[in-house]
Amino acid sequence: MDPKDPDIERIRDQFDFVRSGRVVTNNAASTQPPRPLLDLYRSLIPFYENVHRGQSNASGWTTDRFEAAYDTIAQWLNAPSRRSIAAYRNTTEAHNAVMYSLLTEFRDGDNVVTTMLEHNSNYVPWHALTREILPRLGRRVQCRIARFDHATGRLDLDHLASLVDTRTKLICCTGASNFLGTKPPLPAIRAIADASGYPQPTGERRSRLLVDGAQLVPSSFVDVQALDLDYLSFSFHKMMAPFGVGILYAKEHLLASSLPFLYGGDMIADGQVFPDRVEYNELPWKFSAGTPNILGLIVSAQALRLAVDLIGADRRLYFRTEDPLPAPVVAATMQVIGRHTARLTERAMAALATVPGLRLLGVPAGGPRAPLVAFTVAGRSPFELAAALNELGVESRAGCHCATLAHHDLGLDPPASCRLSFYLYNNLTDVDRAVDAVRRVVATAPGSAVTAGGRHRRDAA
Ligand SMILES: Cc1ncc(COP(=O)(O)O)c(C=O)c1O
Repeated sequence: MDPKDPDIERIRDQFDFVRSGRVVTNNAASTQPPRPLLDLYRSLIPFYENVHRGQSNASGWTTDRFEAAYDTIAQWLNAPSRRSIAAYRNTTEAHNAVMYSLLTEFRDGDNVVTTMLEHNSNYVPWHALTREILPRLGRRVQCRIARFDHATGRLDLDHLASLVDTRTKLICCTGASNFLGTKPPLPAIRAIADASGYPQPTGERRSRLLVDGAQLVPSSFVDVQALDLDYLSFSFHKMMAPFGVGILYAKEHLLASSLPFLYGGDMIADGQVFPDRVEYNELPWKFSAGTPNILGLIVSAQALRLAVDLIGADRRLYFRTEDPLPAPVVAATMQVIGRHTARLTERAMAALATVPGLRLLGVPAGGPRAPLVAFTVAGRSPFELAAALNELGVESRAGCHCATLAHHDLGLDPPASCRLSFYLYNNLTDVDRAVDAVRRVVATAPGSAVTAGGRHRRDAA
C-alpha cells in the first residue's frame, strides 16, 4: 500500500486555526484539532453517561465507545490487545505511572539509564526516584545519563552501552528529541538492554526499555511488537486530539505483575474490596482508577481514524466507525505523514541555513529527524525572536522546550533556542513564510519596529 502525496489543501481546510492565516508551526508543543473531531466531541455530549457505572442504555453505549477506543489505540500500535493500554492525562503522567509502579521493585545497587536528550518528563521522574524517593526508603539506586554528540545530536550508543550493566533495571530513552530532532536507533538500544542480564522479578534477564514516543508517534508508525518495547508513552494533544489524553503502552505481563499507579474506584474487581484484602480489576481497567477522560479518549481514538481518512490510506473510511484498523493501513498513513513532514523540515533547514548568524541545532540536514528545527541566532535572544515571529503571524516556541539537560550540555546561555515544528496540515508556503519571517527579524535590529510589542512569556521548563 503506497498512497500518493496527501491533498494538503483539502486537509488544511479542516483546521480553523490553520485557515485563519497564521503560520501554525509550533506543533511539537500541540497540534490543532480538525473540525470533524470537534463536531464528534459535541455530538457525544448530550447523550453520555459514565462508563462501567450504570445499567442505562446511555451508560452501556458510552462504555462500548470507550472500550472500543482502547482497541483502536492498541491496533494503531500493533499491540496484541487493549490489555496493554493504560490511559493517562499525558506523556508525563505515563512516565510517572511507570516510575511509581516499579518503585517497590528497585533493589539497593540498581540503576536506571537515561539520556541527555530527554524531555524533563523522562528525566525528572528518574532523578526524583533515585535522588529523593528511594534514598528515603534506604535504597541507593543510580540514575546514569548517556551523552550525545554535540555536532550531530546523535546519541552516543557506546557511552550508553558502557553505562548499562547487570544492575540496570530500566533504560529510558526518547524515540525522537523535541529539541535536536534526534531519533535514536531503537533496535540497537533494545539489543543493549537485552544484553544486560539484569534479573527482573518476572524471571527475564534483561533491562526493560521505556521509549518516550511523544515526538515519535505523531509522525511514524511505531510497531511496539516489532520493536519489542516494554513501555511506550505518547500524548494525543500532539496528534490532532484535544488536550487531556496520554497513553502508556506496556507489555501485558508487566501491567499484570506490577502494582497499580493510582488506587480507587473501577480499578478493583467487582465487589472484591474487604477490610483485609483488595483484588484488582482485569486489564486494562486495573490502570483506570476513578472516572477517566471518557470523551477525550473516544475522540482521541477517532483522531487516529480520521488521520487514515485524511491521508486516504485505504479505499474505505474509518472515522466514526469501530472497524478494525489493519496495521498496513496505519503504516501507510504514517509513512505519508512522515514523508510530508520530513519534506517540510528539510526545506526549512535548507533555507534557515542561509540566514546570517543563524545556527541550526541537532541532526544535520538529510539525517533522520523529527519534523522540527531548533536554532539560535548570534547575539539575539530566542525569546525576542519568537515574540517578533508572533508579530509577523508565525507560531514558534522559544525556551528550552523542557529539554533542559541538552540545552545546558550544549552550553547555551541562556538555556534556550527558538523552534519551528511541522505537522500534516503545514504546506511549503507555511515553511517559506516562517523562514522569511525569521530572515526579516534577524535583519532587523533588536527592539526595533518588527520586534516591538512582543510578549515575552515564560517558557515551561
Ligand atoms: C519528547 C517529549 N516527551 C514528553 C513530552 C511531554 O508531553 P506532555 O506535556 O503531553 O506530558 C513532550 C512534550 O512536548 C515531548 O516533546
